[in-house]
Amino acid sequence: KPQLIIDTDPGQDDAAAILMALGLEKLDLVEVLALTTVAGNVSLHNTSKNACVIADWAGRSDMAVYAGAEKPFIKSLVTAQHVHGHNGLGGMQLHKAQTPLKVLHAVAYMVDMLTHVEPYSVTICAVGPLTNIAQMLSLAPEAARGIKEIVIMGGSFFHPGNVTPMAEFNFYVDPHAAQIVLQAGVPLRILPLDVTHQALLTQARIQDLAQMGNDNGPRLATLLDHYERHEQASLHEGGAPLHDPCAIACAIFPELFEQKRVHVAVETQGQLTMGACVVDWWNKSKAVPNVNWATAVDDVAFFELFNAAIAALP
Ligand code: BDR
Ligand code: CA
Repeated sequence: KPQLIIDTDPGQDDAAAILMALGLEKLDLVEVLALTTVAGNVSLHNTSKNACVIADWAGRSDMAVYAGAEKPFIKSLVTAQHVHGHNGLGGMQLHKAQTPLKVLHAVAYMVDMLTHVEPYSVTICAVGPLTNIAQMLSLAPEAARGIKEIVIMGGSFFHPGNVTPMAEFNFYVDPHAAQIVLQAGVPLRILPLDVTHQALLTQARIQDLAQMGNDNGPRLATLLDHYERHEQASLHEGGAPLHDPCAIACAIFPELFEQKRVHVAVETQGQLTMGACVVDWWNKSKAVPNVNWATAVDDVAFFELFNAAIAALP
């Protein structure tokens, strides 16, 4: 079964992704090695605290949580409190986390772990800005040997941007990091907005969670109800895109997603297009494809998997 490190900036859909992974672990479908946090939706202080609280929710106060980068490589930090609430979890009242935050920096943890594991064995699910991953690959390129693949939620091509007209949030926050990761020569799978906008969290799907009969289903329903109401796309598409859980699903069940091998680069300089993906759909540049780019998802199967995972939690 896949071994995962989840690199994340919780974030409401990040919370859903982490809970999904921990539920799938209970079903013996995956092993979650650690959560590593990064600044993005909210500050690093909040994303780290939230990751620990989410581990508690899953009954996993033994989970290893490491805090990483406080700000992007070059740009100043842009956050998304208007979607995720002031604390990143919809403004929910949070208890003091029992899960401890490790002292080691997330990048140091990844370098150490990935240089010591069996080659090509660990999958990284990156569902926030790519700052930690880029730092790790720059600091210790030899760590790439331990990576089976990096499954990224980020970018867009056919679907427009969600933070600027052209750019998706995770790639916009740290485009320089995204470009380093894209050029690293590591196997990459990307779940862009093109596909996450097919995994729509409708009010009916929120109700399924609310009626689950455990603690985490209803809790997630409350959280995702806030998210659904603040995601502007839900007004136009009938539900909010459940972005980050798509990366968890794709890391374990890639067959749920249609994918195309393409060359992808990220604009790091454009005044109007900073953070936008340039996807060479027809291989015009003759560059060797570097990404499996997801184009479609079986959303019914995806939500079945998501619900089974959440139902397996306390
Ligand atoms: C991405 O941006 C964040 O706000 C979400 O958590 C997701 O990772 C979607 O663009
Ligand atoms: Ca995220």
